[in-house]
Amino acid sequence: MIVATTKRLTLRHASPDDAIAMRSVFCDAEVMRYGDGPQTDAWIRSWIALMNRDYHERGYGLWIVTKIGDPRAIGYCGLTWFPNINGRAEIEVGYRLAREYWNTGFATEAALAVRDLAFICRGLDRLVAIIDPDNFRSIRVAEKMGMKYDSDVLLDGYTHPDTVYACHRDEDGEPSDEPKSRS
Ligand SMILES: CC(C)(COP(=O)(O)OP(=O)(O)OC[C@H]1O[C@@H](n2cnc3c(N)ncnc32)[C@H](O)[C@@H]1OP(=O)(O)O)[C@@H](O)C(=O)NCCC(=O)NCCS
Repeated sequence: MIVATTKRLTLRHASPDDAIAMRSVFCDAEVMRYGDGPQTDAWIRSWIALMNRDYHERGYGLWIVTKIGDPRAIGYCGLTWFPNINGRAEIEVGYRLAREYWNTGFATEAALAVRDLAFICRGLDRLVAIIDPDNFRSIRVAEKMGMKYDSDVLLDGYTHPDTVYACHRDEDGEPSDEPKSRS
């Protein structure tokens, strides 16, 4: 199922047929450097199953990114629910592309589509990106989504804090970097 299209990309539900193409994302040590490291084929199959459960139970998850006109997966971009980031539940925009698609603007294009889908179609008020402070490429994508530094967070199992970037929806449904008043 297609969830968004942009000038150059399609975002759609993950299917078991994506497992081989997603090796270029999940089995590449450089792509997985800021994460849990390279993964196995069995792990990729579990990830696809988990995403399909998220689509069904939450209505969102991490979606497969493809180039328009080519069904082959080049990475993922989407939304993940975190129950407790510094004491509050958050929804994160996450993105990870195969290395050959870095420096093409695809990551930012996909992330902007996910941000707009979250704010305009789903009416969410706030989105975050939780990023290793050394991951400058990811920070650039967050900034181009309109995100600003919010806080630091030490996630379970990590030895050093990540940085939380955040953006908010303004009254018109447009992205804004200011928190929405709740008074
Ligand atoms: C994070 C990640 C998705 C970012 O990818 P990226 O290629 O650096 O990001 P973009 O697609 O936005 O491209 C960046 C550059 O492409 C260049 N570019 C080339 N063609 C372009 C085009 N047509 N349109 C826009 N930018 C273009 C721009 O100059 C841009 O540089 P800038 O940031 O100085 O503006 C990628 O590095 C990745 O998958 N990393 C591993 C996974 C990861 O760490 N994920 C985040 C975990 S928090």
